Amino acid sequence: MPISTENSKRTTAALDVSLSGVRFEHVLVVGAGQMGGGIAQVVAASGRRVSLHDAAPGAVDRGVETMRKSLAKLAEKGGSQPDEVLARVQPVDELVPADLMVEAVVESNTSSIPISSLAAVTERPDRVIGMHFFNPVPVLKLVEVVRGRETSDETAEAITELARELGKTPAVANDFPGFVSNRILMPYINEAVYALQDGVAEVESIDTIAKLGFAHPMGPLALADLIGLDTCVAIMKVLQKGLGDDKYAPAPLLETYVEQGKLGRKSKEGFYIY
Ligand code: CAA
Repeated sequence: MPISTENSKRTTAALDVSLSGVRFEHVLVVGAGQMGGGIAQVVAASGRRVSLHDAAPGAVDRGVETMRKSLAKLAEKGGSQPDEVLARVQPVDELVPADLMVEAVVESNTSSIPISSLAAVTERPDRVIGMHFFNPVPVLKLVEVVRGRETSDETAEAITELARELGKTPAVANDFPGFVSNRILMPYINEAVYALQDGVAEVESIDTIAKLGFAHPMGPLALADLIGLDTCVAIMKVLQKGLGDDKYAPAPLLETYVEQGKLGRKSKEGFYIY
């Protein structure tokens, strides 16, 4: 969720006069996990200056290391040199004024929490919008742009343009729990877990059927591991509560994995062992 920073009245005033023409030269990214780090990387790769903040000790260093590996892969295919991009990423210990702030805390990147609820606690709800990137951020081309009730046309246009400048394709959705992406994706993953739980097939078969049968790049269980099983459970609960329908309740087996600390790739074990 991007929001222009609150720290300085001068920054606010500058935004007031120039939002429509602004190119967000300086972006503050809050959260250096797999989403925040990926977002910082694509913003820096577009030539912008990035301040990267994370409250967890060591998180920014880990984020920068992940960026370096990703940038090295991209450099092999003609992308910018990792050092050149990383020189534009400045770790910061606190929130600093910037043209734009992107919140990506606890790797959630506001993937299902209503934008209007988040905007309501700010003094400038017209300047708050959902900017939902997809993992791995440097590779996937979509940004789901989510308008809150009070998001202004100007904010929506500026963020849509920014998404394009980052090399992404923006698609606009309204502010419903899970937006479009997770309303479709998470029940699909959840159903795959039910298929496993009910003994319809083993993990590998379920994923092979989805990969080859639907031409998806990876099966739903491998994808759940990539996203994080705890994140999947959290999003299902937001859907269940927000849409008021128990059909979105997380599959018991999914919750069991999370209770056992099997969170997917980040804990080295989920439906697969890494
Ligand atoms: N940075 C840079 N390059 C990367 C990369 C990264 N982080 N990850 C993969 N790549 C590159 C690889 O180097 C490789 O390049 P070459 O083809 O030139 O060799 C290419 O991408 C493909 O990677 P792999 O060969 O390793 O494996 P793959 O073909 O299976 O691709 C994948 C990996 C890109 C992750 C692909 O499987 C994929 O797109 N999977 C689906 C991911 C998806 O659905 N994400 C959405 C999750 S939902 C979400 O994020 C939102 C939410 O709110 C939960």
